[in-house]
Amino acid sequence: MTELLHLIKSRRSVRKYTGQQISEKDLLAILEAATQAPSGMNYQTWHFTAIQNPDILVELNNRIKQAFGRTDQPQLQERSKSTTYCCYYHAPTLVIVSNEPTQWWAGMDCACAIENMFLAAQALGLGSCWVNQLGTTHQDPEVRALLNSLGVPPSHHVYGCVALGYPDLSVPMKEKALNPNTYTIIK
Ligand SMILES: Cc1cc2nc3c(=O)[nH]c(=O)nc-3n(C[C@H](O)[C@H](O)[C@H](O)COP(=O)(O)O)c2cc1C
Repeated sequence: MTELLHLIKSRRSVRKYTGQQISEKDLLAILEAATQAPSGMNYQTWHFTAIQNPDILVELNNRIKQAFGRTDQPQLQERSKSTTYCCYYHAPTLVIVSNEPTQWWAGMDCACAIENMFLAAQALGLGSCWVNQLGTTHQDPEVRALLNSLGVPPSHHVYGCVALGYPDLSVPMKEKALNPNTYTIIK
């Protein structure tokens, strides 16, 4: 139990990775942890699409940037023009977490699965980060065409992605300041 609490406390979002790919064994352990998460009515309608092909990851990032360019938001348009912007921080593995949008808890199921993946990664000495850019762009026609070709179920919405890899240890882990007074105990 104390080990689990330590994992929870020590996990931080990792935004710089070494180029080393994670092993098949670790990827499968992380995907299994995802599928063990609770889900509303135990429907388990989610799908996890793990991409480890660097060319596909670059293409996905390009299509996301192009979709940003088609929005009317100046900040996103800036990102679309950036030659360095990489929404997945060049992580060697990205897991797309999608679900049927027909149930209102679809996103909650995905969040539970994503946290399980973060903690499993932490237990295996890997870094992880939530990557949200497909949440707003997955219905863009060019992005959707790529997602469909990768096997994301066509009816699914994307609720988040998980970047996975070995953390670049030259980047110090930040201490996290916790907001005070965020819980109440009534006895
Ligand atoms: C719903 C959600 C969406 C997030 N989206 C992104 C994202 O797109 N890119 C990113 O770098 N971090 C993203 N994060 C990570 C948060 O920025 C991070 O969890 C927060 O700053 C706290 O830091 P920690 O994870 O290191 O504890 C997201 C986190 C959550 C829960």
